[in-house]
Amino acid sequence: MKILAFESSCDETAVAVVEDGRHVLSDAIASQADLHALYGGVVPEIASRKHVEAIAALTEKALADAGCTREDIGAVAVTYAPGLIGAVLVGLSFAKSVAYALNVPLIPVHHVRGHIAANYLAFPELEPPFLALAISGGNTLIVDVRNYTDMVILGSTRDDAAGECFDKAARVLGLPYPGGAPMDKLAQDSKGGVYQLPHAHVEGAPLDMSFSGLKTAVVNLAHHAEQVGEELDRAALARDFAQAVSDTLVSRAMEALRQTGYKTMAAAGGVAANSIIRGDLERACEKAGCRLYLPPLKLCGDNGAMIGAQGYYEYLAGHTAGMELNAYATRDIAD
Ligand code: KG4
Repeated sequence: MKILAFESSCDETAVAVVEDGRHVLSDAIASQADLHALYGGVVPEIASRKHVEAIAALTEKALADAGCTREDIGAVAVTYAPGLIGAVLVGLSFAKSVAYALNVPLIPVHHVRGHIAANYLAFPELEPPFLALAISGGNTLIVDVRNYTDMVILGSTRDDAAGECFDKAARVLGLPYPGGAPMDKLAQDSKGGVYQLPHAHVEGAPLDMSFSGLKTAVVNLAHHAEQVGEELDRAALARDFAQAVSDTLVSRAMEALRQTGYKTMAAAGGVAANSIIRGDLERACEKAGCRLYLPPLKLCGDNGAMIGAQGYYEYLAGHTAGMELNAYATRDIAD
């Protein structure tokens, strides 16, 4: 079955056609990142308006790229949560109208379930159960993926998401938004070991994480250097920062593997593109005898194909919705 899938939860408008949850026939993306870079972060009102401008033409492009007509589409999948509410509403409203007009099922997809499902597109052999490390701009979760649509959160951040933290640290280092990729590049120029940064532990919750102290430490370091006229070793700070994030993520993921006994792990989300985190995960999983799935970089960030992949399995599980489907800024991945 060919699913037309929509994603608009943040600053990427994305429309894709995916066949049987595993084959990407097209994956059209219109990024607004350059526009939001002017403001150093996503401006929700602008994001919503740009989604409205882009979505109809992008849908035509996704169909044309896939060599499909509207009649070939068997269902419509859409991100309904979590995300910037105005932005999610644009994709959801458009998807509803398309499903209604084509008289096909409407499938609600949780955005982070979509990120995890990006792995199904890259790795045909991957099937649940497995452990997922979902690390993006808005979410940082360790998830027990029991089956395609049954998921349980084992650990999560208590404050900032890992990506949010990368973006903030990048900003104080004078790097453009979104800061994760430029931070990654800058970190390549140093071996680090220069700055002592905090590694927070959540008392009594060994799988939970906290990044706000790390973020504040970088901000304070940068402000202090500015005030006393000291030159920061920006590359070393980027390296030490990424290492601190990686240490936190990888240690929690390994503890979750130990607790669950899983021997398969998949990474997901924009921060899973980070070279230091990827390298550390690879080494740790190899040591633990765990098979690690790391999606290719283009499937780490937001895209429509991942929504089509997860949408297929939601459809098989009977998870379709009517025209009353609402959008939600926050929603548990288990719901
Ligand atoms: O998954 P994503 O595209 O959007 C959300 O669902 O949130 O993730 C975006 C986040 C941003 O915070 C961005 O800075 C971060 O992923 N990111 C990275 C890298 N590439 C993107 N963070 C660290 N290293 C990277 N190479």
